[in-house]
Amino acid sequence: KNSLLRIRDLSKDELMGILEDAQGFEVLHKDWQLPESKLVANLFFEPSTRTHYSFASAELQLGCKVEDFTAEGSSVEKGETLYDTVKTFESIGYEAVVIRHKKDEYFTELENINIPILNAGDGAGNHPTQCLLDLLTIYQEFGKFEGIKLAIIGDISHSRVASSNKEAMELLGGECVFSGPKEWQREGWPYMPIDEAVKWADVVMMLRIQKERHASAMSMTDAEYLAKYGLTKERAKTMKEHAIIMHPAPVNRNVEIDTDLVEAQNSRIFKQMANGVLVRKAVIKRAFGVKEF
Ligand code: CP
Repeated sequence: KNSLLRIRDLSKDELMGILEDAQGFEVLHKDWQLPESKLVANLFFEPSTRTHYSFASAELQLGCKVEDFTAEGSSVEKGETLYDTVKTFESIGYEAVVIRHKKDEYFTELENINIPILNAGDGAGNHPTQCLLDLLTIYQEFGKFEGIKLAIIGDISHSRVASSNKEAMELLGGECVFSGPKEWQREGWPYMPIDEAVKWADVVMMLRIQKERHASAMSMTDAEYLAKYGLTKERAKTMKEHAIIMHPAPVNRNVEIDTDLVEAQNSRIFKQMANGVLVRKAVIKRAFGVKEF
């Protein structure tokens, strides 16, 4: 079964194949649909706007029939496990599931599920489709990954985007450094102070403070955070001429990034979202084992 759970489960060729298909969906195969309509369920146990609705958009564009599941009002409220919930969807005719769940690597509990699982984010673990859309955005800009310098700045310890992008850049020959508050870094990952990182990078990727995953409230104000660790207009002026700003979003404007930079000429934040639909179309095509357009 062609699940997509983690970036590290993909070979370089498989990853590049997904990006190639995603790029194909932008123009050449814009109206392409699956040879047969498929029944897909989107199971989101954590909040989401972009991932949820761009998966839904991709599924509908590919001619799938789509059902959105919410734990509220389901038998999860009676204590049904994740495994039994997903096994139920498989038993009643669903042909693939998209899952976001707060538990790191929730999918290790789902080994006996026989339909493809597309991971839409697991706790602080992995966010493979976000990573693929980030990669597509970088590739569209630079036409390569070798030697590309990516600085990921912010709440690294709670970020599944950071870990998936680190794995991808290691696979593809790019360089990755991390910045932000020292207490939010991961042990052994390369660290660079923000002023240095912003000048060094080809891609400056800002991350949201994931307040919902923090045990205690932040000890500084939003304005203090922006001045110390955020992408201010002054810092943005020190970026390389060709460098771009990225952010997986949702954005906390004027916290990790000055609001005027979100739609600046060198920002690709909304382009990333558009690329999310292309990448998700590609992983759905792959999930159903369709090789050719
Ligand atoms: N980037 C991202 O995963 O956004 P959502 O949480 O809105 O899906």
